[in-house]
Amino acid sequence: MEQTSKEKILIVDDEPLTIEMLSEILTESSYDVITAGNGLDALKLYNESQGLNLIISDMNMPNMNGLELIKKLKLAGSVVPIIILTGNNEISVAVKAINSGANDYLIKDENIAETIVMSVKRVLEKQEMKEQNERLLKDLEVKTQALLELNDDLAEMIVEEKKLREEKEQLLIQQSKMASMGEMIGAITHQWKQPLNALTILVQDLPDALKYEEINKEYIDELVRDAMKQIRYMSETITDFKNFFMPNQERTLFDVNHAVTVVLNIVFSQLKKLSIDVKVNRNIEDNFNVNGFQNEFMQVVLNIVNNAKDAIIEAIENGLLGKEEGKIKIDIYKINGNIVTEISDNAGGIPLDIIDKIFESYFTTKADHVGTGIGLYMAKVIIEEKMGGHIYANNLENGAIFTIELNNE
Ligand SMILES: Nc1ncnc2c1ncn2[C@@H]1O[C@H](COP(=O)(O)OP(=O)(O)OP(=O)(O)O)[C@@H](O)[C@H]1O
Ligand SMILES: [Mg+2]
Repeated sequence: MEQTSKEKILIVDDEPLTIEMLSEILTESSYDVITAGNGLDALKLYNESQGLNLIISDMNMPNMNGLELIKKLKLAGSVVPIIILTGNNEISVAVKAINSGANDYLIKDENIAETIVMSVKRVLEKQEMKEQNERLLKDLEVKTQALLELNDDLAEMIVEEKKLREEKEQLLIQQSKMASMGEMIGAITHQWKQPLNALTILVQDLPDALKYEEINKEYIDELVRDAMKQIRYMSETITDFKNFFMPNQERTLFDVNHAVTVVLNIVFSQLKKLSIDVKVNRNIEDNFNVNGFQNEFMQVVLNIVNNAKDAIIEAIENGLLGKEEGKIKIDIYKINGNIVTEISDNAGGIPLDIIDKIFESYFTTKADHVGTGIGLYMAKVIIEEKMGGHIYANNLENGAIFTIELNNE
């Protein structure tokens, strides 16, 4: 047999003969049948029995008719499907029954033995489908809810993770800045030598001037002007230095050319002492505005320039380059909405077996304590992750070239 065995059906009818006949038919079709002779008994059975699958009720019964029974069952929260039976073939009764919530309507005629089995089967199948749908929907709801929660958790985790990474990066950047502090102080020492000498000469000249009676208003004015010029220069150098060590908290619009100039001001004297020639090429008409972190960008340029300087010193030591032949060239230009900064040297280039590794953290070819190998790694983090640009290295005919690409504004 096809239908699910032992589905429980309650038959309600005031005619014992009808009950007897239907019970027999349905029991034969493998249903579990219980019966009631009136509406009240039916309600009682409904309340007492568990897992009722279907109710078949007569329409015309004393005290409580089929429609009233349906109403009472619905009031009690019943979702059990109902088939209404009636003796007369009146369409208005059928409509009433269906409108009240009956699932089917049958006439007690000579075909009832066949129609009842078919109707029961159909109603039970529909009910099963409805329940299955409800189960699926509920399941879907639960799963959707779980997915939504998982999504929330993931989003939260991603935000958390991003915050942590940013904090770590900021710390690294600051650390690597501090690591270059020694080098920067060296650069400042060089930077200050000139003006300090000039100030010394101005001061040392004072006793002689007094002796030869040269001190007058004009002399003092000139001395003050000369001294102030040197002091202003020294003060600017130290301000650049201080600014460089303050971390940038927020993106600002800055000019790449200006940032490069500030870096070169800091290292200029040192490079000059090493007889390294530095040239910057750019079209002064252009604006090189970039939205990002100026101090961090300067740190990147400083590291690349320092790397070039180190490479030149090494090339000279190895006799590959003449003592005064070191050159660093910086080109700044605009192309396709990008501001490109190229820093090249003539120190022989990056050995091909390491060129793929130089941006990795802690990769260095420099002796212990000289290099930490963090410089270019930091450069990549700053340019690519913090500022959304690109940085890469190549070899030219006689040296290395580092290219930084940043979006214009
Ligand atoms: N201009 C260059 N010419 C040749 N090799 C270079 C040049 N710039 C970098 N390199 C190579 O890349 C390596 C990594 O550079 P990076 O700046 O990351 O670290 P470092 O200079 O060794 O140490 P740190 O910058 O942390 O003090 C260098 O050790 C060097 O071998
Ligand atoms: Mg370096």
